[in-house]
Amino acid sequence: MHLSYLLVFLFSSHSGLSTACPRRCSCDPAQSVQCYRATEIPREIPFATRRLYISHSKIKQLQITDFRRMSALEELVLSCSGTESIENNTFKALSTLKSLELYKNQLKQIPIFLPSGLEILKLADNSINTLHATDFEGLVKLRVLDIRNNLIATLPSSAFSSLFNLQSLILDGNNMESVSAPVKLPRLKYLSMADNKLNSLPTSFFTSFKNLQFLSLSGNFLTKVPLDLPKSLLSLKLEKNQLKTVRLQDMKHLENLSEFFLSENQLTSIDGAHLLPNLTTLELSKNQLQALPLRLPGRLQKLDCSNNLIQRVTAQEFQGLQDLKHLFLDNNAVSMFEAGALQQCAQLSNLALEQNLLISIPLRLPDTLARLDLKGNDIEDVGEQELKDLKQLQVLNLRNNKISALDRKVLEYLPRLRHLYLDGNPWNCTCDLLRTRGVLMAKGTDVRGGQCAAPAERRGESWMSSKKILQQCEDNLSSIEKGKEDRKKMKPNEASSVAVNTDDDYYDYELD
Ligand SMILES: *[C@@H]1O[C@H](CO)[C@@H](O)[C@H](O)[C@H]1NC(C)=O
Ligand SMILES: *[C@@H]1O[C@H](CO)[C@@H](O)[C@H](O)[C@H]1NC(C)=O
Ligand SMILES: *[C@@H]1O[C@H](CO)[C@@H](O)[C@H](O)[C@H]1NC(C)=O
Ligand SMILES: *[C@@H]1O[C@H](CO)[C@@H](O)[C@H](O)[C@H]1NC(C)=O
Ligand SMILES: *[C@@H]1O[C@H](CO)[C@@H](O)[C@H](O)[C@H]1NC(C)=O
Repeated sequence: MHLSYLLVFLFSSHSGLSTACPRRCSCDPAQSVQCYRATEIPREIPFATRRLYISHSKIKQLQITDFRRMSALEELVLSCSGTESIENNTFKALSTLKSLELYKNQLKQIPIFLPSGLEILKLADNSINTLHATDFEGLVKLRVLDIRNNLIATLPSSAFSSLFNLQSLILDGNNMESVSAPVKLPRLKYLSMADNKLNSLPTSFFTSFKNLQFLSLSGNFLTKVPLDLPKSLLSLKLEKNQLKTVRLQDMKHLENLSEFFLSENQLTSIDGAHLLPNLTTLELSKNQLQALPLRLPGRLQKLDCSNNLIQRVTAQEFQGLQDLKHLFLDNNAVSMFEAGALQQCAQLSNLALEQNLLISIPLRLPDTLARLDLKGNDIEDVGEQELKDLKQLQVLNLRNNKISALDRKVLEYLPRLRHLYLDGNPWNCTCDLLRTRGVLMAKGTDVRGGQCAAPAERRGESWMSSKKILQQCEDNLSSIEKGKEDRKKMKPNEASSVAVNTDDDYYDYELD
């Protein structure tokens, strides 16, 4: 303790010999300086500074004199400082500079003459509207270029001709309506052009992207999947476009594609994803699918078909999907769920079927399920038959159905049940239901029970916590169960069923 104090003292007084730390800045022994609320680049920044962070300041203009003597600067971050312009050559002489971040300012153009050692350039959230052919000239070491959230309307291919080491290019949130080919970025791994106004890409656009692994074109006006996508792709995002069909036949060269995101398009059907043998994630939420995709790939782990118009779930669609872990079919019109449809999915742990038209819990669900969501269906009965194999089930949501009774025997089949949502059902609060309540309390399950709809004199009472019903049923509960009730009463157990509360659609729990 004593020694470290001494060291810090010695160190700071030593560097203090050459220069003091400027006002409104903090300087640390590792040559990092952080400044806030500055109105100019502080003059007294130590020359040996390697990292300089300035934010929440008011520095309208940067000048060549601002950084002239910082001969060791490697990283410069100037953000949220209202910077509008940068004098030509301001950064040019900073031969050690590797990373330059000027995000959340009001720059109208790329700074002119950047140092050739630059590896990272981030200019997100400015007002840059044009890229010039010379903007990135000589930046042969640049690996990361982030110009998201600016006003760029076109992508001139000549602007990138020096960038043959670029690995990551982010152009999200601009005004691009078109891009011109060919852009040559042979090392590019990550390309994101989400949230622009692209309605197509030139045919040869991807020819030079031999190493592209992640591509996002989400949030554009695409009506077709671009042809000739690089076969190195691992992840493809085409969400929020205007796709009506996807021809997987044209994509079968994407042999390593692992994630494919197609949510929020206008697809009415999809067939043949088995042509993508390494696909593990397929997202198709918020389309107009009338049926589940046909011929899915055997390695699929996650399938999201929520918010569509699917009516039937049959075994045929899930043939051979033995790696499937997460299946989202919520917010559809499923009324027919074939018994045992998911039997081949021997790893399924998460099944979302909320907001459908089911009148009963599907039969023969895989015994690996940890979470089953059936909220908002038309289920009337919860039988032994449907739940007896679900030994791993931890979360069961039956909220907003038409259930009036729950046999306590059913619960004995669910040894790991931790969260049970039963509210929004027309409970018939018989003394028998109170026995079920006793079992739930003894198991320590976190339950949201909801209110009684019958008999008339108990209507509106909360059956998990009402003392009134408990007293009325006192004589009808066996002495053993009463004992349990009494023990539970010592702990404020009801508090837990209230605590989970608040948001109907969000539950905060973890599965083990
Ligand atoms: C800055 O450089 C650009 C590009 O070379 C040039 O067009 C412009 O005139 C220069 N501005 C000044 C003030 O020298
Ligand atoms: C697919 O992945 C394998 C293993 O990582 C790799 O060797 C192969 O080159 C990749 N194929 C393509 C077309 O990139
Ligand atoms: C993709 O699938 C092929 C054929 O099934 C396989 O040879 C290859 O290694 C897979 N690639 C990856 C990255 O898993
Ligand atoms: C509630 O259950 C009792 C006893 O089983 C039954 O007689 C009664 O009709 C039920 N009430 C309703 C509204 O279902
Ligand atoms: C208790 O059970 C008896 C018959 O077993 C029944 O007559 C009585 O109404 C029940 N009491 C209540 C409060 O439900």
